[in-house]
Amino acid sequence: MGFKDELEKRRTFGIISHPDAGKTTLTEKLLLFGGAIQEAGAVKSNKIKKSTTSDFMEIERQRGISVATSVMAFDYSGLKINILDTPGHQDFAEDTYRTLTAVDSVIVVIDVAKGVEPQTEKLVNVCRMRNTPIIVFINKLDREGKDGFDLLDEIEQKLGLHVCPLSWPIGMGQRFKGVYNLFEKKLQLFSPHGKLENPEEIIEIKDLEAVELENSVGKGPADELREEVETIKGIYPKFDRNDYLKGSISPVFFGSAINNFGVKELLDCFVQIAPQPLERITEERVVKPDEKDFSGFIFKIHANMDPKHRDRIAFLRICSGIFERNTNYLHVRLNRKMKFPNPTSFMAEKKMVIDEAYPGDVIGLYDSGNFKIGDAITSGEALHFTGIPSFSPEQFRYVNNADPLKAKQLSKGLEQLMDEGVAQMFTKDEDGRRIIGTVGALQFEVIQYRLEHEYGAKVTYEPVNLYKACWISANNIKQMQEFKNKRKREMATDKDGKSVFLAESAWSLKTIQENFPEISFHFQSEWKNNQ
Ligand code: G4P
Repeated sequence: MGFKDELEKRRTFGIISHPDAGKTTLTEKLLLFGGAIQEAGAVKSNKIKKSTTSDFMEIERQRGISVATSVMAFDYSGLKINILDTPGHQDFAEDTYRTLTAVDSVIVVIDVAKGVEPQTEKLVNVCRMRNTPIIVFINKLDREGKDGFDLLDEIEQKLGLHVCPLSWPIGMGQRFKGVYNLFEKKLQLFSPHGKLENPEEIIEIKDLEAVELENSVGKGPADELREEVETIKGIYPKFDRNDYLKGSISPVFFGSAINNFGVKELLDCFVQIAPQPLERITEERVVKPDEKDFSGFIFKIHANMDPKHRDRIAFLRICSGIFERNTNYLHVRLNRKMKFPNPTSFMAEKKMVIDEAYPGDVIGLYDSGNFKIGDAITSGEALHFTGIPSFSPEQFRYVNNADPLKAKQLSKGLEQLMDEGVAQMFTKDEDGRRIIGTVGALQFEVIQYRLEHEYGAKVTYEPVNLYKACWISANNIKQMQEFKNKRKREMATDKDGKSVFLAESAWSLKTIQENFPEISFHFQSEWKNNQ
């Protein structure tokens, strides 16, 4: 098969949700359809369990195991589909944000009873920044939940998506009869067995007035469906693939992942509409996937939790050309040629060394400390991929060296952990004190533990009262300098040497924004001019 065919076959996407909405269950059903796993439970057992939140070592251990499911590839309908796993645990949200830079589309899972939850909002925001095409799957229709129209309103309001239902539920919970596929005009009757072979009874109903509808679901539900479909036609736009690909419209499906209901329908639509590997932006130019020369970037680094193997795995998304094993490539930041003898692909349950990989693929590279998140590897061109921002952390602490003899080890350890993206570090301009910022409290413990066990350095933390770290920009250099001088106490520098303003509270930030109208404050390290 030629390069072009391989490229056109790839579909790389992520599934995102608030914990417990059903991401793992849905992933597993998709893998079962693709034959990548043979039994339910294979992915589930790798899930980071919520009940163990206080036990961070256990979480790290589970996270280590979940490396195996970081990328799950399967073949379906002539396509090669790569699902990039995103940790459901809130404290690892940064990992998820970064994984989203490596996908070409996403499926958002929403629990019909809970509706849009905070984590979903954050993750969809990240997708919207990049106009990532989104499909929504509303899950757990076998349970009582919110009214379909109310849910769609909520999705539009909270997630800022323009929705377009492609299927519609008939009842829910005890009264759940099935879903009507508005796209293909087919009725699927619900049965709670969840088998893969011929799982649903599918009845073609081209005309909703037809009596088969009553015969299948009963008079009341049939009339209700007719009315609701009329309403849908009146309110929501017709599905247009181009609008979906631009990220301006999101198709919505309803189903029950655990019962394997509505999942095949979702997958069948996905393979028809989801984008093949998309172009990527670099500081220098736009990189097209069908270019002959290889390029890719590192979006995730995972430390090996096994103390006998200190190496790490860096995950590379291939953006253009063919990646080949044992070939000399340029590590752009280090300006150094590197060869990779054991590039690994991750297939649900097994890992294997691969000889080549194509745009859209994600491979693991064994790394002894050469990589940082965002690093580019190319056939030779010095490219710098953009769109892999850091986001302002939500929790901050001063980090103090508890063993003065180990200052060097501490600096090295902190630097490497920050390269891995475990947390972010800001160095205060005034006194050089280091502040660590994280998304969740768990990372502080992880950092402390890993510094001690991997680098022999001991740290203590000290509270610091901060609300956000804001990256700043201004057209007027003089005003920027004046600002930095005036607010010296609150200025710090991030890992890339960018200036960051440390805001103590939402209120103080607002006041400062009013006092310095020419300075722009950003909650992420990359911004467009209008943000
Ligand atoms: P997550 O990855 O998004 O965190 O969610 P996960 O798939 O683990 O699902 C969370 C819980 O919701 C699980 O129950 C799962 O069985 C259940 N679930 C998933 N899909 C459906 C559905 O369509 N209907 C219903 N009723 N439940 C669903 P659990 O009790 O936490 O775990 P388990 O004991 O079932 O493994």
